Amino acid sequence: MFRRSKVAPGDVHSTLRRHLLVDGFPVVIDLEKSRGSWMRDSVTGKEYLDFFSFFASNPVGFNHPKMLDEEIQHRLARAATVRVSNADKYTTFMAEFVDTLSRTAAPPELPHYFFVDGGALAVENALKTAFDWKVRKNLARGLGERGTKVLHFEHAFHGRSGYTLSLTNTDPNKTDYFPKFDWPRLPSPFITFPLNAENEAKVIEAEKKVIALAEAAFAKEPNEIAAIIIEPIQGEGGDNHFRPELFKELRRLADEHEALLVYDEVQTGLGLTGKWWAYQHHDPKYAPDIICFAKKMQVGGIFVSKRIDDVEHNVFKKSGRINSTWGGSLVDMVRCTRILEIMEEEKLVENSAARGAELLRGLQALTEKFPFVTNARGQGLMCAVDLPDAATRDRAIDSCFEDGMIVLRSGVRAVRFRPTLNVDADNIAEGLRRLEHALAALKK
Ligand SMILES: Cc1ncc(COP(=O)(O)O)c(C=O)c1O
Repeated sequence: MFRRSKVAPGDVHSTLRRHLLVDGFPVVIDLEKSRGSWMRDSVTGKEYLDFFSFFASNPVGFNHPKMLDEEIQHRLARAATVRVSNADKYTTFMAEFVDTLSRTAAPPELPHYFFVDGGALAVENALKTAFDWKVRKNLARGLGERGTKVLHFEHAFHGRSGYTLSLTNTDPNKTDYFPKFDWPRLPSPFITFPLNAENEAKVIEAEKKVIALAEAAFAKEPNEIAAIIIEPIQGEGGDNHFRPELFKELRRLADEHEALLVYDEVQTGLGLTGKWWAYQHHDPKYAPDIICFAKKMQVGGIFVSKRIDDVEHNVFKKSGRINSTWGGSLVDMVRCTRILEIMEEEKLVENSAARGAELLRGLQALTEKFPFVTNARGQGLMCAVDLPDAATRDRAIDSCFEDGMIVLRSGVRAVRFRPTLNVDADNIAEGLRRLEHALAALKK
């Protein structure tokens, strides 16, 4: 039986506002009655088609029946009753999680795992892993204690923690006035769609310049760059897609200059792009050395390749170099274990690819119908379109919300779609109808 909260739904915003900045959605989620891709507001009873999915972090929607069965509910409650420090005290639940993960989502070529809370701390610990590796290599060669820079890209979003602030460069409001490191930043050679001959020629040209700049950055500061980091598709920076050829070059650079290649898959990971991990769309030869995960995984963390073992006392051998009190939350691990089982049983990675293709086809059709809508792009369910400017984009998003659909801003003028992995064809069709309605209203 669902016990009512002591705060009535209608009082939620005013209660929170007494102590917090409350600038989120004007809805109070009905955690009991929301279902699948439909989020219900407990104040008004209105239902919203959820193409937002908690910033792409909700993999199987609301109240999936397999999340409600008695056994999983019992396990979740058991794991939630006391908060265990997972990095130092072990449980059967944690072992089950690690075992399920290694059997399903985790890439075999990245056998070392580390867990922490959230995406920024996942990236933060990927960087620490790389610094430790690079500095120890430099010390062993008599080059001194150096190797603490990170080559990264314009329009990147890697989080808002200490180190990641030096990499994130989307909205200045997120980074201004905080101290940052002056690490080398490369332009972002992303594709404009459709990828016709003209657009492809432009992106090839841009890639060449970027690779030359990367070579120059390594030449300018030999032995200083510990890692190259990139989102395989930039999320918050505008849903920016790259050609596979770029990743091939990054792999080459990382090998030639002894840097670790880090893919931030916090947003692209766990099925969103129609593969477990976005890098799996490319030749396995160009696989990264580290992937960072969080969001849909529920637990933040990193998977790391055996390249780390070049250094004897690396962070997976020497205690205490990367650690935190809780080492991720056991409740999140139990929830993730169940999500992985559901994803496997219901073939949700395949569903993401199939439903994503429908969504992208629908978006492409809308660019034909409304010429002010451009650059329809997507891989799996990670789809977006551009509108002429930020104000028009914001009006479209507000209009979708009025019409009962939640979508997200991305970059300067894009609308991004982030349905859950178990979204069905009817939901996709309904989302496209609601979007078309919002776009038609803009024309007037
Ligand atoms: C690619 C990427 N990296 C890192 C982060 C930071 O994750 P968190 O907000 O969980 O710290 C995000 C969050 O949106 C992200 O999209």
